[in-house]
Amino acid sequence: MTKILIVCLGNICRSPLAEGILQSKLPNDKFLVDSAGTSGFHNGNPPDIRSIEVAEKYGLNISNQTSRLFKGYDFELFDHIFVMDQSNYNAVIRQAQNDKDIEKVKFILNFPGSKIKEVPDPYYGGEKGFENVYKMLDIACKYHSERLKNNL
Ligand code: 4NP
Repeated sequence: MTKILIVCLGNICRSPLAEGILQSKLPNDKFLVDSAGTSGFHNGNPPDIRSIEVAEKYGLNISNQTSRLFKGYDFELFDHIFVMDQSNYNAVIRQAQNDKDIEKVKFILNFPGSKIKEVPDPYYGGEKGFENVYKMLDIACKYHSERLKNNL
């Protein structure tokens, strides 16, 4: 089983979407996809309604996810960790114990042809921001799912 963790700040907007999208593109007998937040502000909460609704629009049900805090122990549990932005990256790397841990952490928009590095936080914006985030995560997850399935 290859285990992938997706991290954002609150674990209610971006990473729940990415978890649902990536899961839908990978065989679930070989891959486990989870998500977490670096803040813990929304611990125990379901995803933001705007994330639930945009996922639903594209045929994904993410409503049963629960926000949780990223912990240093996640480095032992997961093979790959994808972050949304520089601030998530810094918060995650701070808890790394060694180079092997650091190598596990990648920006989710780090793929050939991507024009931007960070997934913008849609929390304080309108629904259009969520649609935009969904679309960029869908493209990113297409790329990463192909690589993961080919063991790259
Ligand atoms: P996320 O968005 O990191 O994509 O889940 C946020 C959700 C909540 C907050 C910030 C970002 N907040 O400050 O409560």
